[in-house]
Amino acid sequence: MTDQPKKTFTLTNDQTGESIKLPVEEGTMGPATIDIRTLYAQTGHFTLDPSFTATGSCKSRITYIDGEEGVLLHRGYSIEELTEKSNALEVAYLLLYGELPSKEEMKEFDHNITTHTLVHEQVHHFFRGFRRDAHPMAIMVAVVGALAAFYHDSLDIWDVRQREISAHRLIAKIPTIAAMTYKYSQGQPFVYPKNDLGYAENFLHMCFSLPVEDYKVSPVLAEAMDRIMILHADHEQNASTSTVRIAGSSQANPFTCISSGIASLWGPAHGGANQAVLEMLAEIGTKDRIPEFIARAKDKEDPFRLMGFGHRVYKNIDPRATVLKDSCHDVLKEMGVESDPTFELAMELERIALTDPYFIDRKLFPNVDFYSGIILRAMGFPTEMFTVLFAVSRTVGWISQWKEMIEEPSLRIGRPRQLYTGETERKYVGIGKR
Ligand code: SDX
Repeated sequence: MTDQPKKTFTLTNDQTGESIKLPVEEGTMGPATIDIRTLYAQTGHFTLDPSFTATGSCKSRITYIDGEEGVLLHRGYSIEELTEKSNALEVAYLLLYGELPSKEEMKEFDHNITTHTLVHEQVHHFFRGFRRDAHPMAIMVAVVGALAAFYHDSLDIWDVRQREISAHRLIAKIPTIAAMTYKYSQGQPFVYPKNDLGYAENFLHMCFSLPVEDYKVSPVLAEAMDRIMILHADHEQNASTSTVRIAGSSQANPFTCISSGIASLWGPAHGGANQAVLEMLAEIGTKDRIPEFIARAKDKEDPFRLMGFGHRVYKNIDPRATVLKDSCHDVLKEMGVESDPTFELAMELERIALTDPYFIDRKLFPNVDFYSGIILRAMGFPTEMFTVLFAVSRTVGWISQWKEMIEEPSLRIGRPRQLYTGETERKYVGIGKR
């Protein structure tokens, strides 16, 4: 162990001249951090960082993002290599356990996930309470949370084996439930999973097959779905993952924690953006109207923002958007859509935005949601299903991050402080005297 002096930051109170030293914590990659856990005890001050622009909530070994360079690593492997050489279930194993599986480990993991894809028959009855036009994300929040009512044998978060069974159940069953939300919206019968199909292939089978005829999943679409699942699997401490972590910090069971992540992902500023991108492109309609919407996106008086653009961390093109843009061509060709006006419009919008100083100065580039919707629509999904598909993929990241947090030696409940700006104490006045 080198006896290098511990790195510190000195904080000085300019009013009193008092200084304190705060330890610096360095990771393996990325910015170092200042450990402020003793700040209040030493200074009587909290920090204030609404929306956490510069605050780390945890240590994690799962995903690393370099926003300036547009780098995304999962357990050290680049997203580009994983989408090219791996597959969704292998990436799930990598995120959960930290290493790429051996052949035997992958075979066992594949078996464990495949044999958990069925949901209890009683789960089917939950759907009957919803209108057919209910937003599928509302159904997902409800049904995934309700899984906690079924799996009493795997709710003990302190039991390693029960944690693992819950993780496998969620990775296996959420595609089934997602497919059920789609079938329910279409008025079609639920389709059971088939154990002889791959993970992405099985999901498309449950979504698009009908009991009236044989249905073979296109290998091109299965490959595209598998790639979409890899690209959306995890993204360090984004809003929905932070929601899952804070829910898990209260020792709530994993099913309700994942349900809280689905709820957070639904917002159009987060996972709901993929639906919002298609709705925006539909509203723009034609290339000649692009300048009008670019102007609206720049107008501070107008709440309109260019959906699918910008990112809290990426100040370069989101590497996932690049992979998805390339996949657009494959899927459109497979679906016999040689030229999709929406895709053409999206590429023209990207071209114009990336030459506009407003977007360049603010480093607003296309993010993962900009192209994903075009692929999903070409595959036959309605826009309301887009965020559901994001949730199916992100379940792997959510449960991996939850597992990492629970396995921390000292799990403590997450409880941020605040800067109080309300009324000072005052006496109650009866209504007759107000
Ligand atoms: C995801 O965290 C993650 O990793 C998320 C995600 C994941 O995998 O989990 O990557 C998935 O959520 C991707 C983001 C999807 N959301 C959208 O595409 C919605 C549109 N984007 C914006 O709402 C926004 O860019 C956010 C929410 C993504 C980021 O917001 P920030 O970091 O809070 O940025 P900001 O609002 O402070 O914007 C900085 C400036 C502002 O202008 P100024 O006040 O400096 O003049 O950029 C402007 C903003 O007005 N701006 C935009 C814009 N995004 C930011 N202006 C027009 N259009 C936009 N899309």
